[in-house]
Formats: sequence, C-alpha cells, structure tokens
Amino acid sequence: MEVKLRILRYNPESDGQPHYKDYTVDAGPTDRVLDLLRYVKGYQDGSLSFRASCAHGICGSDAMRVNGVNRLACKVLVKDVGREITVEPLLGMQIIKDLIVDMEPFFENYRQVMPYLINDETPEQGERLQSPAERARFDDTTKCILCAACTTSCPSYWADGEFLGPAALVQAHRFLFDSRDQAPAERLKVLNEQYGVWRCRTVFNCTAACPREIHVTQAIGEVKKAIITGRLD
Ligand code: FES
Repeated sequence: MEVKLRILRYNPESDGQPHYKDYTVDAGPTDRVLDLLRYVKGYQDGSLSFRASCAHGICGSDAMRVNGVNRLACKVLVKDVGREITVEPLLGMQIIKDLIVDMEPFFENYRQVMPYLINDETPEQGERLQSPAERARFDDTTKCILCAACTTSCPSYWADGEFLGPAALVQAHRFLFDSRDQAPAERLKVLNEQYGVWRCRTVFNCTAACPREIHVTQAIGEVKKAIITGRLD
C-alpha cells in the first residue's frame, strides 16, 4: 500500500528553520517506521539523517515522534499508525540535523545520578550475593535503554532542561534500591536538590512514552518517598 511520510527536515547549514518534506513509500502493514525511513534514505533522498542501530528495540537510538507520540521507529508498525505518518525529532533537545538531536545534555543529567554500583567492600564469597526478592525490588528500572522518550515527553523537562528528567530518575532508582549499593545518601542528596526529583509534577507522560513499559512515574514516586522517609523499602 501507499504510505505518505511527512518528515520534519532541518539542516542548520542551509535551512533557516525546520520544515516538513513529504515522501510516498510503498509499504506493507508490518513494515516499521524505521524501514520506511531507511527506504527514503536509500532510494529517494540520501540526505535524510536519523539514528538507528539494533533495529530491535534494544539500543534506544531511534526514539522520535511518530504522529506526535514518542516512539522507537523500529517498534512502530505501519498498521498501527496508518497510511499518513508524520515523523519529527524529539522535543526539548536541539536538532543537530533532521531527526538527530543533541543527546549530550540528556547524558549529562544521567551522569549526575551516579548510574553505577558503588561498593568498595571486598565480597566475602567472590561475588555480592542478592536474594531473588532483593533483585526483584529494582527489576523494572533495569529495563531502561536510555532512549530519552520519557524525558523528552516531560513538560517539566521542556520548561527547564536542567531538570534531571525521568530517565535519570529511573536510573537513580535502579541503583538506589539495589541491596548491593552503598551510596544511597550521596544519590538522594543529588535527587533532593533544586533540579532533582521534586521538579516532577506526576504528569505520567513519561510512563505513557516508555517503549519498555517501565512504570516510570511510580519509580519516581518511590524515589520521592525514599527522600522523605529516609528508608529504601
Ligand atoms: S534501532 Fe535500536 S532501539 Fe530502535
């Protein structure tokens, strides 16, 4: 079937501002939006720029707006979005070219929450043991692929990019509630600061946007509760 693809294009070296360009592609119902973009780039307009790598919803590099909703282009089927598809870059980030945005501020926020296990003790038995229940406590937030779909759907982040944003808070949750980690106080201090967790207004856009179906707003709520109670339960 014929699919009309409207893509927001922008080349900062030649365009005054972003503009839409239309393409017509022959596609099947189970083709993905990423397939259409690759077809356009390969056969119609080699200047089209976008990020993608794994093409299977794992690397998180092809998050973009598809018909106004943050999605991974490799996970959206034509049959689910119809024959008229508008593709735009993520909101709240500077466009480098076409669908490619500058992710550096996003990763700078990510680094602030210390997204790694901190434990300087030598384990007694060669490795740090953890019960199934302890592992389950943070299982949901381990699924994050740092695609930025949540953060760039958040009105608080749009208002001020200094806000750590949902993805960084999800990563903070992943390590805060890991029984092997020994730095909850340092992390909670960062999260309790001006641009930390309290900028979240519980809008739930992040949960709706997450392609991994992480309960993002719930995780952020658990971080808030940990700050208030001083407990990680
Ligand atoms: S290309 Fe890796 S998540 Fe889509």
